Amino acid sequence: MRRKLMSMKHLRLAELLSQPEKYDTVVVRGWVRTFRANRFIALNDGSTIENLQCVVDFENTDESLLKKINSGAAVEIKGQLVESMGKGQSLEVMVETIKIVGEADPDLYPIQPKKHSFEFLREKAHLRVRTATFSAVMRIRSVLSFAIHQFFQDKGFCYVHTPIITGSDAEGAGEMFRVSVLDPQKPPIDDEGAVDFKQDFFGKETNLTVSGQLEAETYAQGLGNVYTFGPTFRAENSNTSRHLAEFWMIEPEMAFHDLDDNMDLAEEFIKYTLEYVLEKCEKDLAFLDQRLANEEKTKPQNQRSPMGLMEKIKFVVQNEFKRVSYTEAIDILKNSKPNKKKKFDYLIEEWGTDLQSEHERYLVEKHFNAPVILYDYPAKIKAFYMRMNEDQKTVRAMDILFPGIGEIVGGSQREERLEVLEKRIEELGIDAEELWWYLDLRRFGSTPHSGFGLGFERLVLFATGMSNIRDVIPFPRTPQNATF
Ligand code: 4AD
Ligand code: MG
Repeated sequence: MRRKLMSMKHLRLAELLSQPEKYDTVVVRGWVRTFRANRFIALNDGSTIENLQCVVDFENTDESLLKKINSGAAVEIKGQLVESMGKGQSLEVMVETIKIVGEADPDLYPIQPKKHSFEFLREKAHLRVRTATFSAVMRIRSVLSFAIHQFFQDKGFCYVHTPIITGSDAEGAGEMFRVSVLDPQKPPIDDEGAVDFKQDFFGKETNLTVSGQLEAETYAQGLGNVYTFGPTFRAENSNTSRHLAEFWMIEPEMAFHDLDDNMDLAEEFIKYTLEYVLEKCEKDLAFLDQRLANEEKTKPQNQRSPMGLMEKIKFVVQNEFKRVSYTEAIDILKNSKPNKKKKFDYLIEEWGTDLQSEHERYLVEKHFNAPVILYDYPAKIKAFYMRMNEDQKTVRAMDILFPGIGEIVGGSQREERLEVLEKRIEELGIDAEELWWYLDLRRFGSTPHSGFGLGFERLVLFATGMSNIRDVIPFPRTPQNATF
């Protein structure tokens, strides 16, 4: 009997529920979400947000078996697929045989059929994907990654794999994780009394990369249009709902592209991926939309978002992003109510200050009520590689700011003029020798070129309506936390 059960091809629920009329007797496998009244199993196998109700004939089932049908247990069920009389589902399986594939002790299994806080579930990150919310988020994350490749591949961009271990600090922020095999107890010391990294694995100091941009630029100057999509690491001690120490970034880089081309591509790209998710993830989005609506109801009226999740996504897809120079933005902020009434934590007093997230949110959520692309930032608050404008004060940078998220994209037109770049590097006290290969790009066949970086988790945050970035990556890495 058992052998026969195993040999019958089992169906994943997504397939079964999309064309139920094709099936009569089915074999399904998955995990028990709930077991009600010794009769109704809500089964889920991860292929869809929907559970399948399986009805157990408890009068003819061993009590010892019934006792093992607990939340979290893995089961295999064979039975007839029929229309359901009950409320809440249109189909159910009349269980003929049930096999407990893997038990879950109800006294120990932490994911019980009740509402758990996201904080609690973060501590159970190895099991949280068995909840409806996390499985929906992770399916959307998967579809979004595919959409990203589809977008660039359709446009003929080449996917390049830039190194994860690097000697350069692309962003110049010094927030890097060192990669070393030296003994931390007694590292070799050089003549000057400093740690002798010449004796380290690579014969020099190396780190985990903060960005693949500099290496991507080398490939753009040969392949034309390229993109990276890989993990990046930042040892910034920002314990916020939008920062991770390990996150994924997409970085396209294009030869013969100026800043306007760059902004056009970034806007088209974001809209494409969100539209893709709207089309492919209808059920997961509907579930997360409802989740968000319920969460909003617990907030005071004046803090509730006026738009639902799907509405927000559609709004972004259908509307043009507002393009505003940094200088215009500073004027708007200077004259804004919260600035005049001293409501901002950081008041905007003069041109040249960096924008805080409260300012970005004011521009996006209050003033423009749309995604905003800010461009031409003061050179002194941006990285060394951005192209200097004629005013000698601003650089061709652009950041895309999103409602509820803040900065989702950072990019720029790159400085392609050798002398100008060398001067910038010197002014900032960066080691030009380390960058000899980067400078070579400006020596041989230099082109005006541009690119940007999109923080993948910030896009997933937006697309799922989740509020903490730790909940859109399987195993978040944040200060003081690297369990799993
Ligand atoms: O603005 P950033 O630092 O830009 C760069 O790294 C450039 N090299 C990109 C380029 O032009 N090729 O980072 C780009 C994006 C940010 O806009 C943000 O979305 C995301 O990466 N990001 C983070 N996401 C999660 N956690 C963090 N700690 C992040 N830091 C940046
Ligand atoms: Mg940035």
